[in-house]
Amino acid sequence: MRTLTVLSFVAAVTGYRINPHLREENSSTCFPLQSATFHNSTTAPDMTRSEWWCSAEQTYGFLGFSYPIEDDCDGEPYSLIESDFASMKNDFGASMARAYLPGCYTDDIWERIIKAGIEYDMGVIFQVAWPLNGDPDSWWSKIQDSILDTLANSSYAEIAPFVVHSIEFGTEPIGDTDGGSYDNFEGYLSKFKDLVKPYGIPVGISEDWDRPGIMSSDNGNSLGPVGETIANLSDCVHAHVMPYYHDDLTEADSWNYIKNQVQWLKSNVNLPILISETQWAWAYNDGHAGGHVTGPDSCDCGEEQYTNYWQNFDDNCQFFKQNQVGWFLHSWQQEGTFDMKKDDGSYAIPNWVPTKC
Ligand SMILES: *[C@@H]1O[C@H](CO)[C@@H](O)[C@H](O)[C@H]1NC(C)=O
Ligand SMILES: *[C@@H]1O[C@H](CO)[C@@H](O)[C@H](O)[C@H]1NC(C)=O
Ligand SMILES: *[C@@H]1O[C@H](CO)[C@@H](O)[C@H](O)[C@H]1NC(C)=O
Ligand SMILES: *[C@@H]1O[C@H](CO)[C@@H](O)[C@H](O)[C@H]1NC(C)=O
Repeated sequence: MRTLTVLSFVAAVTGYRINPHLREENSSTCFPLQSATFHNSTTAPDMTRSEWWCSAEQTYGFLGFSYPIEDDCDGEPYSLIESDFASMKNDFGASMARAYLPGCYTDDIWERIIKAGIEYDMGVIFQVAWPLNGDPDSWWSKIQDSILDTLANSSYAEIAPFVVHSIEFGTEPIGDTDGGSYDNFEGYLSKFKDLVKPYGIPVGISEDWDRPGIMSSDNGNSLGPVGETIANLSDCVHAHVMPYYHDDLTEADSWNYIKNQVQWLKSNVNLPILISETQWAWAYNDGHAGGHVTGPDSCDCGEEQYTNYWQNFDDNCQFFKQNQVGWFLHSWQQEGTFDMKKDDGSYAIPNWVPTKC
């Protein structure tokens, strides 16, 4: 506080504003993985977007959490987003948060996420979702409009490209045939990319590429017809690597699968790659198959499997570094037994700070 007061006093008497960002212009202090900071100011950094962000090569290993906002999006109080960002950053060293499925249609939520990103020096990932909460499918375009309006017209418009790392156009849109057909969807994606181009924010889809005959080829070795078109239309890959849903896999098999998927993506898609979604359950996950479910109350899941699953990611920091792939833990809250933060406020893996390497 005292420092801030002195600085504003100095700025006032000398009659010019010290730009807090100028000192950060150095690739070793890039955002959000190193020390570059907004100083909780909504003034855009005095540099280009690409000077500000860490490169894709530097964006590997643990990045943060999927941050679902599914329960009453419009009612999500800002203080909750703010304190969640503080916990993700302070307790786990998260440098980004990935918005997941906001079934809400106003600029407000995006502005609040940007504000929290600025306060805690975290990059954020936006998402144009096809609603999964029972709202009409066609309302995806309202989400698209609210994001575009936030980028163009909100009080955060200028700083937004420095906080928004990338935008996911759909979450498993190919798996769900969002847009009604792959062709329709590709048209929407292409249009969205053009609309976002002025802001320089990369666009990709959040999707499982292990869909033989569609995203991957029939034999699974290379890109499939839809995968090739999507790759051509994308600036980045946000991959769902989902051993939990490939139902013969046990937790013990999961790391091998993850590793193979990362290598498959590296050899088939020449774009920056993040794992945006992957999970294991710490107890039976009602409504989700997976985890080698053999009956409603029996699965290869539990605290031990959950901890091992994420420990494998953590133990393989060097693998992610070599492959230049970052990963998100799905999820922070609101996703039942996938959550890191339990309803009682405790963490599913206590006292764990993922490795940086
Ligand atoms: C960036 O800053 C670091 C530490 O302050 C310094 O070691 C490095 O040489 C600087 N790099 C450039 C390109 O200025
Ligand atoms: C950021 O600034 C706002 C006022 O604009 C203040 O309410 C908030 O506490 C500050 N956050 C941090 C983390 O310093
Ligand atoms: C920005 O606001 C103007 C005026 O309300 C509106 O016409 C325009 O469509 C908005 N831009 C976006 C991208 O939503
Ligand atoms: C994707 O791009 C490559 C290289 O530009 C091109 O050869 C290929 O035909 C494109 N494929 C599709 C399905 O658009």
